[in-house]
Amino acid sequence: MTLKTLAARCLGLLAVVLLMAVSAPQLSAQQINPTQSSVQEQQLLEALQGGQNLSGRVTIPDQRAADLIKPGNPGWANLHGGTITTLFVVSVVGVLAALLLFYLIRGRIRVDSGLSGRMIPRFGGLERFAHWMLAASFIILALTGLNLVIGRAVIRPIIGEGAFGTMTAWGKLAHNYLAWPFMIALAIVFLVWVVHNIPNKVDLEWIKQGGGILKKGVHPPAKKFNFGQKMIFWAVVIGGAALSFTGVMLLFPHLAGTPADWQLYQVIHGVVAAILSAIIIAHIYIGSVGMEGAFDAMGKGEVDLNWAKEHHSLWVDEMMAKDTKPQTRAGTVGTPAE
Ligand code: HEM
Repeated sequence: MTLKTLAARCLGLLAVVLLMAVSAPQLSAQQINPTQSSVQEQQLLEALQGGQNLSGRVTIPDQRAADLIKPGNPGWANLHGGTITTLFVVSVVGVLAALLLFYLIRGRIRVDSGLSGRMIPRFGGLERFAHWMLAASFIILALTGLNLVIGRAVIRPIIGEGAFGTMTAWGKLAHNYLAWPFMIALAIVFLVWVVHNIPNKVDLEWIKQGGGILKKGVHPPAKKFNFGQKMIFWAVVIGGAALSFTGVMLLFPHLAGTPADWQLYQVIHGVVAAILSAIIIAHIYIGSVGMEGAFDAMGKGEVDLNWAKEHHSLWVDEMMAKDTKPQTRAGTVGTPAE
């Protein structure tokens, strides 16, 4: 090595040492703040196992984004994946079994006096529009919701992972968007029917006679809606409102408050959905195959006069007093019920 080369190397080394001396304190000051507290690994582990909530730091405006997401919260996970699934299965299978038993014992509820062929208007256009909008949206919401609860265990093994993934993705979209027509229909149904659903003393007689559905030839008096229907109405209104509120909280988690509040809304959503689905299965049975002449009320908007006299005698009296003349099947429909 020549003297010239040695001198050049020494100068280079000196330059590097000088550069490090100048820049090192700045780098360490930027990266490490010895007075700042930091989360220990043990704290993270405890939080992830269901312990205290932890928050870090974020630079975006929503400070809740700094909260540690705890996927394994055991209490909520057990409720969500276990208790609610069981409740869904038990209530849906239970009501189907009860209806089958009822059908085997009682058979189809017939019009005891036979169909008269004379029709009386029962529901107007707005009532039927709101009912069917509510019914269609609820049924799809219930099926797509049920898929989220039991689909992975029940449907995926049958149709395969790919088809199940596609179906569930579309189902989730349908669930999110159909919530809105459901809420609109619920509000209309509430407004048009609430006056007919206030319990009164006529209902006591209906309860005393078991609604007349257990025995042939028993027909307790009722106005536009009997006590059983009033119970369905209030279950739909209160249950539907609870589903709507909790559903909006689930869709927009930032409105829900803390993560614990969001989890509570999810549990309420699941429990109410399971109970209301079971009630609605019974309603669909009675409104279609379970009772002769009932479907016409929502299908055509008019019912056979003998059906009306047997199930809603006081309402028929009111209609007659209002001079709403029953029509023959061939004739035009008279003044709407309301
Ligand atoms: C295919 C399904 C459905 C059928 C065949 C059906 C049938 C009927 C019928 C025939 C009535 C009138 C009964 C009468 O004249 O007294 C009625 C009323 C009613 N429906 Fe439905 N319905 C269905 C689905 C739904 C759903 C999904 C809901 C709510 C989520 C619902 C809520 C109501 C309510 C609140 C009433 C008034 C109270 C009552 O009659 O119980 N329906 N339905």
